[in-house]
This record gives sequence, C-alpha cells and structure tokens, in this order.
Amino acid sequence: MKDFIPNINKQKKLIENVLGVSAKAREEKAKNPDIINATVGSYYDEDGKIKVFDCVKDAFTHPDYDNYLSYSSVKGSNAYIEAVQTWVLGENHKKIYDTYLFNTIATCGGTGAIALAFATYLEKGEGLLLPHILWPSYIQIANNLGIQADFYQLYDEKGNLDLRSIEQNAILMQEKYDKVFLVINDPCHNPTGLVMSDKDYKGLVQVLNRLAKKTKVVLLLDIAYLDYGSDNGKKTRENFTLLKELSTNVMVLFSFSASKTFGIYGLRLGALIQMTKLVAEAKLFSDATSYFARSTWSNTTHLGIEIVSNTLNNPDKKEAFIQEINATSDNLAKRSQKFIQELKQYEVPFAPYQNGFFVLILVDNKNFEQEIEAQGAYGCHFGKGYRIALSSVNLEEASKLGRIIGKAYQNIVNK
Ligand SMILES: Cc1ncc(COP(=O)(O)O)c(C=O)c1O
Repeated sequence: MKDFIPNINKQKKLIENVLGVSAKAREEKAKNPDIINATVGSYYDEDGKIKVFDCVKDAFTHPDYDNYLSYSSVKGSNAYIEAVQTWVLGENHKKIYDTYLFNTIATCGGTGAIALAFATYLEKGEGLLLPHILWPSYIQIANNLGIQADFYQLYDEKGNLDLRSIEQNAILMQEKYDKVFLVINDPCHNPTGLVMSDKDYKGLVQVLNRLAKKTKVVLLLDIAYLDYGSDNGKKTRENFTLLKELSTNVMVLFSFSASKTFGIYGLRLGALIQMTKLVAEAKLFSDATSYFARSTWSNTTHLGIEIVSNTLNNPDKKEAFIQEINATSDNLAKRSQKFIQELKQYEVPFAPYQNGFFVLILVDNKNFEQEIEAQGAYGCHFGKGYRIALSSVNLEEASKLGRIIGKAYQNIVNK
C-alpha cells in the first residue's frame, strides 16, 4: 500500500534558521530593552517600532471596507498595474521604452513573483543560475518546483558583480539545458548590500547578448530593495534603460515587493513585470501567469492593492510617500555608516556593501556568534557568514553593535 504522502513531499522540510534566532532575540528584548535585535528583514524606526508609512496609516484610519474586503482580480486592478509599472520604471517609461510591451500581474509578495517567474519559464528538471551568496528562499522555491539550482560567484576580487563567473556558469548551463535563467538580486543584495554599478550593468548586457546567440535567456531582476539604495534607487532605474540594448532572445522580468517598498510585509503583495518587444510573448506571459496565480493564491489582498494604487495614483499622496521613503532610506544609510565605521576600526571582514537592509560579516565561527549573543546582540548565521539586519536597529544600536562585533572579532577570531 502506498503511503499517504509521496516520497518527494517527505523530503520537504522548512528550515527557518532566521525565524528561530529572530524569535529568541525578540523574547530577550521584551525582557531587556538593551538587547540589540539585528535579525529582522523589516524596517524598524528609531523608536524600535515597525515603520508605518502615512499612506498605510491612512488606510487603517479611514477604512473603505467595500474595497478592502472584497476580492481583487487575479491580475490586480488596472490602477495597481499602472501604478507599479510607473513606480518601478519611472514616470516617462512609456516614452523611454516606446518599443516595449510591459505586462504586470499582482503577486503574493515578491516571493510570489519569484515563484511565478520560475514556474512560468522553467519546467521540472531544468536549471537556474543563482548567486552563491543568496536569499535561501530562491533554492527552496526552485526545489519545490523540481528545478535544479546552479551558482555563480556574486562578486569578484574588486567587489564588482562577477560577470566572468556568470558567463562561465551560464555557458555550462547551455550545455545541459536549452535555456539560461539568471537571477540577479539588485540593488541592495540580500545578504551583502552589494549594488551593481553602471559598469556592471553594461557588462551584464554584453554577457547576456553573447549567451543569447546560443539559447534563450531569462533575466529575473529581483528588485525587492529597489527603494533602499542611497539615491533611493534613482541610478538603478536609470540603468534599467540599458536593458534596451538586450537582444530579443533575452526576456527581462522584474519582481517587485510591496512588503519592502510600502512596509506592508504582512499584507503579502508584490508584482511580476515582464518587459518584451514580442507581442506573442506578452500574450503567453499574461495567460500563463494568470493561470498559475488563479490556481495557487487566486488573487492578492485588496487592502494592499488599494494602499499602493491610491498612494501612487494621487500626485500629492505620491509626493508625500516619496519624501517618506527617501527619509527612511537616508536613515538606513546613516545606520550603515555608523556600523561600518566600527567594523573598519576593528578590521572585521565583510562582503562588499553599498546600501540596504543587510551587511554580511565574513566570519564563520560559532564562538564568535556566541560571544556577540553573550554581549546582548543578535544577528543570524547565514551560509558561511553572519548577517546583520540594519533595518531593525536604530542609529545608537548600529554603533554599539559594530563595537560588540569588532571586539568579538578581535578577542575570538583575530587573537
Ligand atoms: C532578496 C529578497 N527578494 C524577495 C523578497 C520577498 O519578500 P516579500 O515576499 O515579503 O515581498 C525578500 C524578502 O525578504 C528578499 O530578501
């Protein structure tokens, strides 16, 4: 007799090392406010409370129940689609990308957008190319869909995106599969804080065009942290225009996260955006992604859809939101300056960081981590490093945390 659960599903086990340590840090902090909790990938204000943008507050203080509680449509409303496309690609995107078609569907968070992209463009047994230092959910989403993961080195010896490694590994993939599916998490890569430069972007376009002579290439740009670059994502948005140099054999997808941009993590909203010149591809995307969405999460939270579209489609509300998100990312940049100043003082090695929620300390040592915890601070063991979430510490804690890590490094690792 067959078991209830197929073998393939017996192997699926959720390993949430971040949530475990995060719960412990939260518990400790409830007992003692001096504890530093640098585990949470959500933005917390200087007073230690989750950041609530005015537009979000407004939705709760003036609830529009008929809209919030009714079903939204599978793709999200036209107002949402228009708002997100314009937010990601800029006010003038229709002019700038006049030969392109954009296709957008609302998703269950950025996570949903990534799962939807993998499921739409890859089939069981095919492979995708991920950075070797990465947000682990990519691997889990791929495993769940029966997709194989290969890896490129994220950065080279100069701290730039390692284009050589991307190309070499993609060529190897082209020997195994008839497609390359590349994931790039930029700007503010999780967990390092790497941001691609103009040169990285230009080089990437050249690499992809070379690869596209042999097979189709799908480029998924995971832009979850788009608005947390020091220039609030301005440069990255300018660099998107370089994608116009790509061959039509390269399909560009953007995964957007309303969790990060609007601080509505628990409302589970995001979007998958397709950029193509090919009418037939636009139609295929539209049909297949709607089908997948309808058969998994069906549609997304209407409350989230309303918050995003009401804010971005009203010029005054949009301007107020821009001021607020800019102030938030400027404050994050100040936290990182304070933290990194201490790391440098104590010569602590860390991965190339420009901006973002996270810094990755390049130390893989249990005693080091235990010493940091003994001093009342919590980060997360992450691959071969230790991830610090600057999103969840205030300015004062950022300096203090840097000193705690610096001393632990000098006393335990570098003695
Ligand atoms: C790199 C990266 N991509 C995407 C996401 C998706 O987040 P969400 O599903 O909450 O939008 C996250 C969240 O932590 C992330 O770190």
